[in-house]
Amino acid sequence: MQNRRIGDVRVSAIGLGGMPMSIEGRPDEDRSIRTIHAALDAGITLIDTADAYHIGADEVGHNETLIARGLASYGGDTSGVLVATKGGHLRPGDGSWTVDGSPDYIKQACEASLKRLGVDAIGLYQHHRPDPTVPYADSIGAVRDLLDAGKIRFAGISNANPEQIRQAREILGGRLVSVQNQFSPAFRSSEPELELCTELDIAFLPWSPLGGIRAAGSLGGAFAEVAGRYGVSPQRVCLAWHLAKSPIAIPIPGASRPETIIDSAAAGTLTLTADDLAVLN
Ligand SMILES: NC(=O)c1ccc[n+]([C@@H]2O[C@H](COP(=O)([O-])OP(=O)(O)OC[C@H]3O[C@@H](n4cnc5c(N)ncnc54)[C@H](OP(=O)(O)O)[C@@H]3O)[C@@H](O)[C@H]2O)c1
Repeated sequence: MQNRRIGDVRVSAIGLGGMPMSIEGRPDEDRSIRTIHAALDAGITLIDTADAYHIGADEVGHNETLIARGLASYGGDTSGVLVATKGGHLRPGDGSWTVDGSPDYIKQACEASLKRLGVDAIGLYQHHRPDPTVPYADSIGAVRDLLDAGKIRFAGISNANPEQIRQAREILGGRLVSVQNQFSPAFRSSEPELELCTELDIAFLPWSPLGGIRAAGSLGGAFAEVAGRYGVSPQRVCLAWHLAKSPIAIPIPGASRPETIIDSAAAGTLTLTADDLAVLN
């Protein structure tokens, strides 16, 4: 598995997205733990989660708790695993997603994530989504305070436009290490953010890199055509395509089954040719 950089640490070029193990349609806990262990066995050292990956209002942080359990019960060394969580998004329990970007809320959410993850400092803490009712500078100011207080090791943002990336970078005093935006073959409009992250040398974590939980299985077209040439899955080709887009891209495919994350992790060793990329682009 090739490595890429987040802040001053190296992580696997393919991460594990934890969301499918905790929202609607999630598997039982045993299968989720097996999925996390399969990811670790495959050399994955970046796990993306969020306090908002849950269903009921009474189970906030379901996914963080699951990831903590998966790491604690793994037989091997997990000291090199970077857990990336997020705050600022909420699920009130009726299926909807809301936001709260107030500094007090973000600091309180971070404290709760620290407890669930059972760590003194969160590896990578990402502001989940801008709150239109709160100045962005105030939300990111809270993340800066968390960095200064040593509650988080690295700071990232998510669902941000180029202006917000520049603003966050300035507020964090150059300590912005990652941007996580939606990007997939079917959703390419985060191209400007990907380019800006490449220019600024900030990690870019495409979310729903396969098109999202419902669409990931039906990835076809050019991706299926190239996959046929290599005798691999279209999903693996898709992840290799993400990696080829920029040296700072680190896709985080979601999984709820060991088989899918094992297949996805193998994208870290699949190199596409210029001809392949021309077809896919
Ligand atoms: N920052 C944000 O606002 C935001 C929003 C959405 C998601 N995210 C993050 O991004 C991660 C990825 O996004 P996502 O989970 O929405 O969508 P995705 O990664 O595009 O698709 C996930 C689905 O793809 C399937 N899959 C994965 N690898 C596969 C393979 N090699 N072959 C066939 N199927 C495969 C999985 O199936 P199985 O379930 O059967 O394993 C999974 O349900 C999330 O888990 C979450 O961590 C962040």
